[in-house]
Amino acid sequence: MEINWQELHDEAKRVMKLSYSPYSKFPVGVAGLVSDGRIIGGCNVENASYGLTLCAECSMISNLAMTGGGRIIAALCVDGNGNYLSPCGRCRQLLFEHGGPNLQLMTPDGPQPMSLMLPWGFGPEDLPK
Ligand code: THU
Repeated sequence: MEINWQELHDEAKRVMKLSYSPYSKFPVGVAGLVSDGRIIGGCNVENASYGLTLCAECSMISNLAMTGGGRIIAALCVDGNGNYLSPCGRCRQLLFEHGGPNLQLMTPDGPQPMSLMLPWGFGPEDLPK
């Protein structure tokens, strides 16, 4: 499937503005292209108990399930300035679960596969059938 990175970037910036980040004042937005062609988004949602913060990617993955599931083919994450943001380690795991090694993640060096962003990642394939 053709990946329209401009569309993903626009959506990531749009949902970044919905971020609830009064503590860090570091809004994050992410957009993903799903196997059926739909675009899903997510923003970070913080908490007064700081460690309970939900990253933007968590929000997007919940959105994925709530809107019909599917596989994520491509994802693009932005900071408050709309610049590409590198997902944290935990969120790479979330992306890996729902996109696998071929999910393309936008970086300042262009799109990179999850197999490179999370080398030797542990995933569903590692569990007994
Ligand atoms: N954050 C995300 O939403 N995703 C990431 O991959 C990195 C960090 C958020 C969490 C917190 O609300 C803020 O960025 C500062 O760490």
